[in-house]
Amino acid sequence: SWTMVNIADESIEAVREQVGEKRVICALSGGVDSAVAAALVQRAIGDQLTCVFVDHGLLRKGEPEQVEKDFVAATGVNLHVVDAQERFLSALDGVTDPERKRKIIGREFIRVFEEAAREIVHGGAAAGDPAEPVEFLVQGTLYPDVVESGGGTGAANIKSHHNVGGLPEDLQFELVEPLRTLFKDEVRALGEQLGLPAEIVWRQPFPGPGLGIRIIGAVTRDRLDILRDADAIAREELTRAGLDRDIWQFPVVLLADVRSVGVQGDSRTYGHPIVLRPVTSEDAMTADWAKLPYDVLQRISTRITNEVREINRVTVDITSKPPGTIEWE
Ligand code: XMP
Repeated sequence: SWTMVNIADESIEAVREQVGEKRVICALSGGVDSAVAAALVQRAIGDQLTCVFVDHGLLRKGEPEQVEKDFVAATGVNLHVVDAQERFLSALDGVTDPERKRKIIGREFIRVFEEAAREIVHGGAAAGDPAEPVEFLVQGTLYPDVVESGGGTGAANIKSHHNVGGLPEDLQFELVEPLRTLFKDEVRALGEQLGLPAEIVWRQPFPGPGLGIRIIGAVTRDRLDILRDADAIAREELTRAGLDRDIWQFPVVLLADVRSVGVQGDSRTYGHPIVLRPVTSEDAMTADWAKLPYDVLQRISTRITNEVREINRVTVDITSKPPGTIEWE
């Protein structure tokens, strides 16, 4: 609509005015907000922007490729990818406590981002004019975040969903927050207008710690692969049923420390159960379990047990929030 065109043009102009000739960095998470913010800043200042994508191995199937290929193709952004999968796996080795997982993932994220930022600040991986220091950090802060945090900007900090505090002294940036006046639906409209792929623009909320908190038990590469396969099937079938926009979130949770007995052909199997947790919600504060049509549940169940060898039982979580939370950890 014409109003979105205005918002885009005005924000682009504001970004240009704010940063001048200086260089800017940005962390991409795979989520809508950081993607739209980065795309907008890219429109405004082109090569002065370098985006960092920390691949921690906890995203869903296809999501790293969405960032590395589709987002780059749609925007032409300079992307610095850090493959940190091993690092996150070893930091999470044997950890089962949900809050410890969150702390570790948040801590590793900020460390990896800092390392990348230092490299970019000191010229190594930088685009743009290396004579200009990096002085700005893009954040996908939305209006509701601004209201929630009392409106201040203060020192740079990566959005709280990564559960991290400030950056160290030698990495202080001024923030560029082009989405500060927008609500989520406006951010999506802006993303579409900037030509971002629908998979990114319409992505459901996804927790910063990612699949790390959807494995009940310790996180391992094998368990991540199992969960990724099952989750991809659930998402595919939801999309095929045309229900994406009716469902707020659809966590798929691997009960990795639970074994369940099943039967396949003539033999018993000893695998793992998985939990489907589709919910409807307005804001994640409260939620209802989603009454997915039986035929959709049926297809998801059949496909997961057929296609993901380690899973021999599919369950549906029918708890509302409260008392249940949306995530299992
Ligand atoms: P719960 O499970 O508390 O989740 O009902 C409410 C919303 O928050 C998301 N969530 C997180 N998001 N980091 C995040 O960025 C986290 O550690 C985290 N834990 C939960 C959850 O997906 C839901 O949207």
